[in-house]
Amino acid sequence: MKKAFVKSYGCQMNAYDAARMADVLTAEGYTPTEVVEEADVVVLNTCHIREKAADKVYSELGRLRVLKAARAEVGQDTTIVVAGCVAQAEGAEILARAPAVDVVVGPQNYHRLTDLLARSRVKRVVDTEFPVEDKFDHLPARRTQGVSAFLTVQEGCDKFCAFCVVPYTRGAEVSRSVAAIVAEATALVRGGVREITLIGQNVNAYHGHGADGASANLPVLLRALQDIPGILRLRYTTSHPNDMAADLIAAHGEIPALMPYLHLPVQSGSDRVLKAMNRKHDAETYRDIIARVRAVRPDVALSSDFIVGFPGETDAEFDETMRLVAEIGFASAYSFKYSPRPGTPAADWADPVPEDVKSRRLAALQGLLDDQRHAFNAAAVGTVVEVLVEKAGRHPGQVAGKTPHLLPVQFDAPTSTIGTLVPVRIVRAGSNSLFGEAVSDAAAAA
Ligand code: SAH
Ligand code: SF4
Ligand code: F3S
Repeated sequence: MKKAFVKSYGCQMNAYDAARMADVLTAEGYTPTEVVEEADVVVLNTCHIREKAADKVYSELGRLRVLKAARAEVGQDTTIVVAGCVAQAEGAEILARAPAVDVVVGPQNYHRLTDLLARSRVKRVVDTEFPVEDKFDHLPARRTQGVSAFLTVQEGCDKFCAFCVVPYTRGAEVSRSVAAIVAEATALVRGGVREITLIGQNVNAYHGHGADGASANLPVLLRALQDIPGILRLRYTTSHPNDMAADLIAAHGEIPALMPYLHLPVQSGSDRVLKAMNRKHDAETYRDIIARVRAVRPDVALSSDFIVGFPGETDAEFDETMRLVAEIGFASAYSFKYSPRPGTPAADWADPVPEDVKSRRLAALQGLLDDQRHAFNAAAVGTVVEVLVEKAGRHPGQVAGKTPHLLPVQFDAPTSTIGTLVPVRIVRAGSNSLFGEAVSDAAAAA
């Protein structure tokens, strides 16, 4: 039996792609393995977003080269595939730098993986041309697992923020049709999925073909999905402030299955920095969007992305980011030091902020965001929340699930509750998880 090892880095879109590549390999007769040493095919689904992410790939490939040689000594072939955004960005360069690699395949080409593996037996191959056909039409049916699933509805980005590689690695914005998405979602729900997170680099810029041939936006898509029998929860990520249209904000107050959680990256609280980043909105616009979402959905939990040390960022400008965070209050967030990326406009700009300044700003920002996260988690203690049970818990007799605010919860219940919503009283907030006890519906109402 041939075995395949697939490892993904980076965003949820990459995780989705990795799962679909695993589907392709399964359809080819491979069994998935988590033990890289026994794999006949190794796929690294790479991320190019920051320097560290890209560096990881080459150190991993160094280890794989040794592994491949060791397996060859005992007569076992190993095919090494580099997929994802580093593959797209660096293409044939990877073959030159990493002699063990057999296949380089971009994020829009992996539906051709079978063919590429066959061709690589003769000669190492690179496939990073943006294809004319839609990969989604050429992938085997999705093998579902679990209660909560990602579903790619939109890909690529036309926004060209000055720091970002995504428009280059993923290409232009493309939306799948409502019908294709509803079909995939329906199949997921039949397979036991109860929560679907719609994903896209700019998911709220979604504009696919609707049932009537007219263009459908994200609120229209969300409404189509909430009608699928068995769907309990919908989420979407990641979105851009400029695409938070009025009808999408309204949808947060109108679609019961849409969970009260919004990941809306802002990057900076300084108008000068936002302009230099080419974000095309100011801090006030962001504050206004948040206020409007909170007006229709007061219990919404907020999340964001931040970059510190963008070229030219002053202490005063960084303080504006701190002020925005202090004012808004986030339940969770991701924050990064600016990392110059080859091929992006900002990479050529002068005035890089010194590394120690970046580190100091990141520590300050993360300190504030951590405090906010802990306060948010602590505020859940004593409340009764609906938990969607996803799996067995860490200890026997326990199950684990998520709150509407995406907080993980452990509590005692039989595994027969997996896939259902259980009201749970939160009794304690740990560092990574909440702990609670199931209550009857009547108790929850009291
Ligand atoms: N489409 C999303 C973001 C995708 S990338 C959006 O528009 O917000 C995820 C996050 O990585 C970004 O929000 C940004 O905070 C961070 N990021 C992207 N490029 C970066 C870079 N060159 N250096 C540091 N962080 C970066
Ligand atoms: Fe990158 Fe900006 Fe596009 Fe987000 S909107 S993917 S940060 S270019
Ligand atoms: Fe990374 Fe590509 Fe996602 S660069 S963040 S894997 S779109």
